[in-house]
Amino acid sequence: MNNVMVVVGTRPEIIKMAPILRAFKKKKLSYTFVHCGQHYDYEMSQQFIEELELPSPDYGCKVKAYSQGAQTAKILANMERILRKEKPVLVLVEGDTNSVLATALASVKLGIPVGHVEAGLRSFDLRMPEEHNRRLTDHISTYLFAPTKNAEENLKRESVWGKIYVTGNTVIDAVIQHISIAERKSKILETIRFKKFALATAHRAENVDDPKVLKNFIEAFMEAPIPVVYPMHPRTKKRLKQNGLYNEVKKSENLQILPPVGYLDFLVLMKNCEIILTDSGGIQEEATAPPIRKPVLVLRISTERPEAVAAGFAKVVGVNKEDILKAIERALNSREKLPEKSPYGDGNAAKRIVEIIESEFANAF
Ligand code: UD1
Ligand code: UDP
Repeated sequence: MNNVMVVVGTRPEIIKMAPILRAFKKKKLSYTFVHCGQHYDYEMSQQFIEELELPSPDYGCKVKAYSQGAQTAKILANMERILRKEKPVLVLVEGDTNSVLATALASVKLGIPVGHVEAGLRSFDLRMPEEHNRRLTDHISTYLFAPTKNAEENLKRESVWGKIYVTGNTVIDAVIQHISIAERKSKILETIRFKKFALATAHRAENVDDPKVLKNFIEAFMEAPIPVVYPMHPRTKKRLKQNGLYNEVKKSENLQILPPVGYLDFLVLMKNCEIILTDSGGIQEEATAPPIRKPVLVLRISTERPEAVAAGFAKVVGVNKEDILKAIERALNSREKLPEKSPYGDGNAAKRIVEIIESEFANAF
């Protein structure tokens, strides 16, 4: 029988789809699982499938490092082949990566409806590949699973064609489902040189591909009034090496560079840090999860997650070194009380999404 197909391509998609796969399993609903291979290193991909105890993908591709356009085109061609063979009744994608747009486009061109998890986010910054991907995907999706009311409003304002459901974000489900396993299993704190630390990540193309911004970040981390632990994305490591900065960064006493760590380790680092410095999307949301509740300085000039700002968790501080340093100082001194609840939901987003799919596609299971 033709199934629902769940497609992932990168680290955050694996993490955010995990609760959905688990909800399918709990209801004994069958599905096809595809990894379209945008992320391919063990530590950016397979490590999460293992840790989150997901099934091995029914199809796995490798796309490797290409330009934005070529990467999108390769995924589109691969996905078209898989979709022609499997003929699913629905394709589920999550987020705003090139994998998401390529898969959605391949599906809609074959007349297969798309369900977009995390629909309706907008940064209004067209320099970002993610903004193209999410806007275009929303407009070719039949089912739009908006995490918040604000995301729903964005979709309504743009008059999308599909049906909109406000569900919460599955990232909160993932944190709640994994935090106690993480605290039991992770040994990451034994390897951290500092008792109190800020946790940093940075990988956005518009940031780390710009040598000036990259230097601002690195200098701010090295001079920060608190030691910084920095699990480094492969894109950023590559850019630091290209700009001759990697060795200097590795030697800094105030900065501990780690390889990209597993999800359980990352949860423990978030839980135990004083503050988070990041340009990541998912981490802005995770910081609001009840078991984490940490202040976040967003190292960007805009965010598509304004709910975290409105709730008092996040501040958008820009990409200038002095602004970042001042913001860290201020955040460490002020220690504002953070809300108990997350603006991204109650941890039941995946259950809601799967119930909607089950009622729309009752004959597919
Ligand atoms: C992609 C997404 C971004 C998401 C991020 C999650 C797009 C446009 N960007 O950015 O929205 O936040 O994933 O982490 O889809 N690399 C490796 N090994 C890997 C993967 C990547 O070495 O397993 C290196 C390669 O040099 C590659 C570079 O990182 O060229 C960038 O990878 P890519 O997937 O193109 O973009 P990300 O920066 O990871
Ligand atoms: N993450 C992780 N290990 C790391 C860095 C991040 O497990 O070293 C997790 C983090 O918990 C979050 C997701 O990866 O769930 C965020 O991925 P990323 O920042 O790469 O992508 P974005 O959310 O910006 O698309």
